Amino acid sequence: MKSSSETTSRRRGAGPRLAPGRPLGYDVDDNATRFSNYFHVLRELVHFTNGWLPLEPSWPRKYTLGDHVHDDARALSKIKRRLYELRSPSDYPGSPSPELEELLDGMASADSPGAYLEAAYGEAKPALAEAMRIHVENLDPVADEPSLRLLNQVLERQERHVRELGPAPAAAAKRDVGALPVRLRAIPRELRILPPLVEPARDDFVEVTEQGDPYLTRDLYINGAENHVPIEPEEQRHFFHGLMDAELSAAELMARNSHEHPDMPWDFHVDMARQTWDEVRHAKVHDLLMKEELGCSWGDYPVGFSYFKSIYAYDLLGRLCLFNGTSEQRAMWRHSHRRKTLMELGQERVAFVFDYLLADEVPHVHNGVRWGSHLLGGSEAAYRDKVRELRGDLDDTGVPTGTPA
Ligand SMILES: [Fe+2]
Ligand SMILES: [Fe+2]
Repeated sequence: MKSSSETTSRRRGAGPRLAPGRPLGYDVDDNATRFSNYFHVLRELVHFTNGWLPLEPSWPRKYTLGDHVHDDARALSKIKRRLYELRSPSDYPGSPSPELEELLDGMASADSPGAYLEAAYGEAKPALAEAMRIHVENLDPVADEPSLRLLNQVLERQERHVRELGPAPAAAAKRDVGALPVRLRAIPRELRILPPLVEPARDDFVEVTEQGDPYLTRDLYINGAENHVPIEPEEQRHFFHGLMDAELSAAELMARNSHEHPDMPWDFHVDMARQTWDEVRHAKVHDLLMKEELGCSWGDYPVGFSYFKSIYAYDLLGRLCLFNGTSEQRAMWRHSHRRKTLMELGQERVAFVFDYLLADEVPHVHNGVRWGSHLLGGSEAAYRDKVRELRGDLDDTGVPTGTPA
């Protein structure tokens, strides 16, 4: 059986299309202009998806946004690379035309997650996919094969995104935004930052309370001999429900780190997007475990945002030190301890969950080191000092006791 990507590339002419019908293609500058337009659409998709993800109440939609933002961030990295190869500035390849700005303003002016989804999945992504389809049909598949391969991959994902979260196909835009001119000497387009979060949104059937689930005791979250591993069905139900909410909060924190700091280097946004996707995936693992093994489901118990709020109140450096550099770093010990204890009891299915959580935590902790050091002039030692200093204000479960300086 042919793989779907193979079928797609054949259909789009990636194969031996050397017959006389081979398109003339775009010249290098026109090609770069098209990629510059995709750059702008994807840059704002990543920025605003990160901004709105925490405010999207639906768990399935929140998950899908976390998945898509990671795809879009990687797509933009590849497009930046192609721009560089086509001799264009890859950090910022000139400003969008007024016509493209109209499309981007549709996303930037959204005032609710629903309005954003309409603009992003009803307008921007269909327009991006349409421009890429035109591009693929008209490029020279030999001289410009690097573009062809990249576009086939990104196009397939954009089409999937629209299928997953978009409106009915009839509403999709039919225009070629790739052909719009780029204004080389115009001032760079600013990215609007949404107001600070008060708290993230949850499905309306999930009860949010000040203290969260009272069943969850502090001994579940401390490191060392006093740590309690949940082994009975009832305590596991509460524990994984709380853990699912904690994963969502982690995704929301990373998404907001990216959205609220558009001036950070591009690789920071790629790292945050990867972590956002990891955290919503972790939430999905717990959601399935609850349904398939534990006999409970999302929304069965109350959740609380006090930990999220205590970390979100810090600036970016503080969040990286306290969340990535402390909370996630300490969670690694607990995950490994939980896995060992549950394996010994023969609860393999539950124990295995912690194996991947633990593996994914390693790059998450590294995100703290990498970007915390970046914020401190590249000094890892200064980052470690800052982590030590901020840890002084934590209680034994890792929750900040004071208010940020
Ligand atoms: Fe996680
Ligand atoms: Fe994590």
